[in-house]
Amino acid sequence: MCGIVGYIGTKKASPILLSGLSKLEYRGYDSAGISTIEKDFLSVMKDKGRVENLSKIRGIDKLEGTIGIAHTRWATHGKPSKENSHPHQDNSKTFSVVHNGIIENYNELREFLTKNGYTFYSQTDTEVIPNLIHYYYSQYKKDDMQNFLKAVRKACLDFKGSFAIEVISKLYPENMIVVRQDSPLVIGNCEDEKYLSSDIPAILPYTRDFYLLNDLEFVVLSKDKIEFYDKDLNKIEKEIKEIEWDAASSEKDGYDDYMLKEIYEQPAAIKNTIDSKISLDNKCEFNELNFTKKYLQSLNKIYIVACGTAMHAGLAGKNTLEKLCRIPTEADIASEFRYRDPIIDNKTLCIFISQSGETADTIAALKLSKEKGAKTLAITNVEGSSITREADFSIYTHAGPEIAVASTKAYTCQVVLMNCLAIYFAEILESSDDKLIKSLKSDILDLPKKIKKVLECDDEIKKFAKKMYREKDAFFIGRGVDETAAREGSLKLKEISYIHAESYAAGELKHGPIALIEKGVTVIGIMTDEELVKKTISNIQEVITRGAKTLIITNQKIDDKGFDKVIEIPKTNSFISPVLSIIPLQLLSYYISKYKGLDVDKPRNLAKSVTVE
Ligand code: M6R
Repeated sequence: MCGIVGYIGTKKASPILLSGLSKLEYRGYDSAGISTIEKDFLSVMKDKGRVENLSKIRGIDKLEGTIGIAHTRWATHGKPSKENSHPHQDNSKTFSVVHNGIIENYNELREFLTKNGYTFYSQTDTEVIPNLIHYYYSQYKKDDMQNFLKAVRKACLDFKGSFAIEVISKLYPENMIVVRQDSPLVIGNCEDEKYLSSDIPAILPYTRDFYLLNDLEFVVLSKDKIEFYDKDLNKIEKEIKEIEWDAASSEKDGYDDYMLKEIYEQPAAIKNTIDSKISLDNKCEFNELNFTKKYLQSLNKIYIVACGTAMHAGLAGKNTLEKLCRIPTEADIASEFRYRDPIIDNKTLCIFISQSGETADTIAALKLSKEKGAKTLAITNVEGSSITREADFSIYTHAGPEIAVASTKAYTCQVVLMNCLAIYFAEILESSDDKLIKSLKSDILDLPKKIKKVLECDDEIKKFAKKMYREKDAFFIGRGVDETAAREGSLKLKEISYIHAESYAAGELKHGPIALIEKGVTVIGIMTDEELVKKTISNIQEVITRGAKTLIITNQKIDDKGFDKVIEIPKTNSFISPVLSIIPLQLLSYYISKYKGLDVDKPRNLAKSVTVE
């Protein structure tokens, strides 16, 4: 879950690397470092803490090298410290390496290398990489670029786990070698400059022409040339891809934080996601899919598999799929799914939702489903991401880059896209009432307008946040699809405000958790389902009696029953109501985090894409 950047070109590398790192900090910010090729040596500068610390290290501005690699770390093996920071070098300081991922067999390799005279100075798994490259390289009789490449390949074939690696060497001051396996790495191409990064937005200011790498494709870069090799070092050709995002979409654009910007981008993000898919008079269109009635009728089960927020969107999707298509559907957490021997065969469709398309558990669950014979469909926000390359089919949310660690616009786009997919299936299957489908479509088309309306509650929510930010506990409750929104509201609050939050099906409260309700606890009730609203109100009454502060998010007319705050949102079909009900809760978490003086975009212990198990 670290971030890596690389540059090879005609300009000084260090400012470009530092700027790239600062854009990747959301992937981890325990330590940062860079290595450049100077006239006759490999420089390495690194320290624990954020990129800002690194940029203040004495002498960093004096680096002249035009080739360099850089890293921002989310610590896995070894605490955040200078020794454990990347780049790492081999004992002879011939090679510098940055790495994102985990070398699972590093203990074995460390033992092997120690027996062969190598010494280790850090607790990281990464330090075996430059040393193993050195070990293989030193077996060749002469210095030769092909031998450098062969040594990197040999080392990579020994690694178990995931890695995106950039390697430079003082012996080859004009080149860099990069490779990936199950960890992201993209190459931005300009005429006499090449940029590398764990994700696209970090290098969007320089180019929109990208190469996306498959597992174990080795790349030799010079400033004006890129050579691609397959796993056996046969030369291969790769197509360049023009990316539609522009540099401005990954800037803060006047907002204090990315999270707030991304909350406010939701009307546009949803519009981009549904455009070309939904219209009132035509059937729902997914050009990327070719599902037939026969195939959909043959399905005995649909699994929706994801992690965190994406999993919450999956729960909302399950509700619509089951109701419109009458196909048994389960939504499952990827890290559980992959180890619970799920019942899957060729009559199962497995859908994987992931904003980044790089989440390790989701990728592993996808691979498992394929092995067991299921068809796999990916829903991601990042074209060319690992999940899209593994899946049989991919469809995209067009939310634009999501930079804040807390997911907002990706979630609402995922809920909407899952609903469009359910309509698409129902129309093929002819399994649902035309009137219902038409009214759902119309409500989906109205979402951008209604979200703008909900965003008007910003001030009211900010005031409520002021009343709540010193508290320690919160409960989010709802029934039916509101319960899925409650889960997401609760996750948002805990991840960026560090307030302990739990979500419950409203009817479950009295089966235990109500014992925790007392003065100083806030209960947030979401009520958008006409049929269930009275029941949830009764549950809210029970907590008011016990001293809780209450916030209600509803699209129903409800009498004042002593609630501390009621936020009214527009009515919409209950299948998609989480798209509206989550917005006040996103704002609530945001403002509480601000009142507490926390770093909203980079909450402690978290990283944007979780590429480790
Ligand atoms: O990139 P993905 O959608 O696969 O990420 C899944 C989760 O890690 C992610 O949603 C996480 O829960 C967010 N921090 C939530 O805000």
